[in-house]
Order: sequence, then structure tokens, then C-alpha cells
Amino acid sequence: MEGSILFLPGDGIGPEVLFEARRVLEALGGIFGHRFEVIEAPIGDGAIKSCGDSLPPETRALAVDVDAVLLGAVGLDVRSADGGDVDAAGGLLDLRQLLGNHANIRPVAVPEALVARSPLRPDRVRGVDLVVVRELLGGIYFGQPRGIEDGVAFDTEIYTEEEIRRISVSAFELARTRRRKVTSIDKANVLESSIFWRRIAEEVSRDYPDIAFSSMLVDNCAMQLIHNPRQFDVLLTSNMFGDILSDEAAVLVGSLGMLPSASVGGDIGLYEPVHGAAPDIAGRGIANPIGAILSVAMMLELAFALPEEADAVRAAVNRVLGDGYRTADLRDDGGRTPVSTARMGELIVAALDKVGASGWAGTAGAAGGPRRRAC
Ligand code: IPM
Ligand code: MG
Repeated sequence: MEGSILFLPGDGIGPEVLFEARRVLEALGGIFGHRFEVIEAPIGDGAIKSCGDSLPPETRALAVDVDAVLLGAVGLDVRSADGGDVDAAGGLLDLRQLLGNHANIRPVAVPEALVARSPLRPDRVRGVDLVVVRELLGGIYFGQPRGIEDGVAFDTEIYTEEEIRRISVSAFELARTRRRKVTSIDKANVLESSIFWRRIAEEVSRDYPDIAFSSMLVDNCAMQLIHNPRQFDVLLTSNMFGDILSDEAAVLVGSLGMLPSASVGGDIGLYEPVHGAAPDIAGRGIANPIGAILSVAMMLELAFALPEEADAVRAAVNRVLGDGYRTADLRDDGGRTPVSTARMGELIVAALDKVGASGWAGTAGAAGGPRRRAC
């Protein structure tokens, strides 16, 4: 098959991890006989510097004209209180809105090879396999009014019935393909928006009698994720709670660098590692590219309906981890010397050759370098 993918490397370690993701994609194209056209465009702080806009018009136009979008990371700085010009995250929020992707799917599965790496006891994390289904286009991220005026700062958590209903449906539908359990997260002992969220989620649950449903307060969930993470299958969350809980859940796997995500619901999916731009380690060649590479796997499955290819990527990652290779973020105390970002990418490509060998199509793969677009 043929497909077009917009690569948005973004800031910090974004370009480094997407470079490895592209290598994996090209190798996969070669093995399975697919041709992926890769186009690159600017987003984030880099785009502000070069184009004066964190999501330039050219990037917008391309994003709605491809089969899928793969993003590295954005944002080197936190936006200043005076609302200054540093708003790289705004470009990502605009992109999510532009694509209409209301459901952010963040799987957290602990590979056997990393069980010992987690700061939690192995018996707690072994077999953890959950998914955070995070509402992505509403809540306090977008609610109006917001501002800082006359010594008062305010944001608005706001959810419509329709928004809660559609993300709930996404969570329940996903649960049907898994262990059939949905836990909806809220703060219904305090917040009106959460009381409403709980009511609507419960209503939707009645359409899914085959799914075990419960609601849980977010503070309790934060504790349960560490105390007994295996109890969870699908976590249904608002935009903000999902953002926070998915970072916490990354600890179960041993590193935020491991987690992929898919944002779906519109016509074109957006795939991105859960981690940020990590300016402290950018340019040093030590970032973990696995979150980006597993995002490619999600893209293959969801945007291109290629589950076998997606599984090949996941199997290659597991094989490399099983062989004991680790980037610096995953290193065990006393373990062997960590490998670089590029070496991890090479190892996964090499493993892909082995796991994909049974399905060899053997044709020439993806196009050479990506086409680059400026502003
Ligand atoms: C994430 C990130 C983003 C978010 C930021 C960069 C806007 O933290 O994808 O988890 O909060 O959604
Ligand atoms: Mg986050």
C-alpha cells in the first residue's frame, strides 16, 4: 500500500526520536512492501523562531492533506505569565483542534523485560496492561474565560454532555476489544463539572452491560495506580486528569520515554510519544526513541489498518529490550552501558528484519529522505 505521513519533529528531543521512528518506518516499508511518503514541517518553538507561528499555515494545510501525522515533541519553555510569545504548546493544542481528535489513547503495558526496572516492586507491575482514554478537546485546556487580570488568575473547566458522551463511548468501545472494564475518573466530591461527568459516564455505561463500570475519584486513582495498577483496564478521563495520570502511569513502565499515544476521532489521526521536548537532554543523543517508535505502531494499526506490521514493530521493540539493551532513562543500577538514541533505533530496525522475515515481501520500501517544507 501507499501512504503519506506528515512528520512534525518539533523541539528538543522531538527531531531525534522522530529520526529513529522514520528509520523504523522505512525498514518496515521495505519488509512488507509498503511505500510511505514522509513530509516534514515545522511546529512549536522552532516554528515560532522560523515562521513566527507555532502552527504555521503551511503546516496546517499539510496536516489535513495526509493520511496520518506523527509528532515528536513541542515546547522548550513554559509560557510566561504575561502571555508572552512562548506558546509552543499552543501549536499542539491548535493542531489537535484542527484535526478534531477528541480521544487520546495512551496505552501503558509493562514489557516483561522492564518489570525489574520499575521503581515499584515486580509483583505490583508485572502484567500491567491499561489504557488511558483521555478527552482531548475540552475541559480546562480550552475553557473560557481564562486569563490573568488585576491580580487574579482564572481558568475554566467546562464540559458539555456531548463531549463527555463521545469520549465515554470511545472508552467503552475500546474496552470491548480488551478486558471489558472501564474506570471513569473524576473529582465528583468537589467539582460540578465532575458531578456531571460522572452522571453522563454512568448513563453511557448502561448501553454497555457487558462492560464492568465504576467511577473513581482522581486522588484515589493516583494512589491506586501505584498501589494496585493491575486492577485497571480502560481509564476514562478528562483532558487534565488524563494528562497527569498518564505521566504517573509511565512510572510503571520505568520511563516516560516508553509511552506512545494516538489522538483519534477526526478524519486524520495524530500520533505522538507521551513525553515532552526534554530540553535538558536534547542534542545529546541519549533520548529514548521507543515512545515514538511505538507511536508508529499505533499509526500503522489505526491509520493504515496494518495490524500485522504494527505487531512486528512491537515485537522488535520487545526483542531488543529482552536482549538487555537500554537507553539511559531505562538503565538498571549496575546494568550494562546504555545505548544511544541512534543505536536503539538501529537495534530495533535489525530486530524488525528478524521478526518480519516470515512475512518478507522483499520489495523496495519507503521513499528516501523526507520532503521538507518551511513556512
Ligand atoms: C501531553 C503534553 C501536552 C498536554 C502539552 C505539551 C500541551 O503534556 O501531550 O501530555 O498537556 O496535552
Ligand atoms: Mg502531558
